[in-house]
Amino acid sequence: MAPSTSNIRRIALSTGGGDAPGLNAVLRAATLSAINRGWEVYGIRDGFNGLLLPEQYVEGGLTRLTRERVRGITHLGGTIIGTTNRNNPLRFPIRDENGNVQEVDRSDELVRAFRLHALDALITIGGDGSMEIANVLYKKGLRVIGVPKTIDNDLERTVVTFGFDTAVAFATECLDRLHSTAASHGRVIVVEVMGRYAGWIALHAGVAGSADVILIPEIPYNLESVVKKIQARRETGGSFAIVVVAEGAKPRGGSVAVLSKEIGHAERLGGAGARVAMEIEEATGFETRTVVLGHLLRGGTPTATDRLTALRFGAAAVRALEEGHSGIMVALAPPEVNYVPLDEATCRMKTVPLNADTVLTGRDLGICFGD
Ligand code: F6P
Repeated sequence: MAPSTSNIRRIALSTGGGDAPGLNAVLRAATLSAINRGWEVYGIRDGFNGLLLPEQYVEGGLTRLTRERVRGITHLGGTIIGTTNRNNPLRFPIRDENGNVQEVDRSDELVRAFRLHALDALITIGGDGSMEIANVLYKKGLRVIGVPKTIDNDLERTVVTFGFDTAVAFATECLDRLHSTAASHGRVIVVEVMGRYAGWIALHAGVAGSADVILIPEIPYNLESVVKKIQARRETGGSFAIVVVAEGAKPRGGSVAVLSKEIGHAERLGGAGARVAMEIEEATGFETRTVVLGHLLRGGTPTATDRLTALRFGAAAVRALEEGHSGIMVALAPPEVNYVPLDEATCRMKTVPLNADTVLTGRDLGICFGD
């Protein structure tokens, strides 16, 4: 952490990776906190595209954030400056004349662009990919503060990321709605939720929403256990069943369900729910339907909890800069927001521990985890 105190005049904010409810609340809190210190604030368009591909923006890749621009946005989903989970500056995809794609490190160019625009510091709001970029930029001499975001809640060293609470609340409401239709028709309903490497959304929504089966990436499943659970439920009078599947769940000895692969971008996952549904129907003969919540989990109004976390993170990021910090991520360590080195925040993914008390609670309730 560089011990330079604030000779800051202009800062940039960026939002990167998949969007999450609460991004706009961070932008508002960081912008107002900075303006109240006499700093100018700019938003970089679409992750770092605004600086790396400025020619794509008629009005410029940087947009001035004023009090007026951030008025009335706390409750809005999405991000007013745009985001992308493509064009990672550390592995930027460049297509040659033959159509072949190569990944190029453009981080030095990005540092130069910051200097060119006289930006004194960066607050970058994102998930694991964005924190990795933040750490590289910090090591190359930029003043950088990270703000953790992801509906998946898979970032280390923060108790929770904003966006997660909204996603869990919405998924739980969907499970409640699906219960009545599943019960009326005596069906099995499989609900696929996001969660690429970590099953936090499936676990929390599944337990809160009284699922019968929860399948998460951390516990490769055995279909027989799932089938046994559903059959046992029928035998004891349960005419229907609800199965929650994280998109990254995989069968024991098998692999994740991938929709498509693309250079310069993580594999597009999808189909985990449909795969399980087909296998359940085949094995049990029970009518089975699939619902994919997907991007619905990323949209909409952030819950009050997410808004508050996001506002606290945005304001804390500006205080951190004023105090002379860099190379850190703001993090929730209730009741406080604290600062953790980016090196620690990026060292590994926060997956669901198999002995997490929420998993144990689920097991005590009789929920099957497919093992
Ligand atoms: O990072 C959050 C996440 O929701 C993952 O669970 C999911 O795999 C990914 O985003 C999908 O992102 P997109 O469809 O925007 O590429």
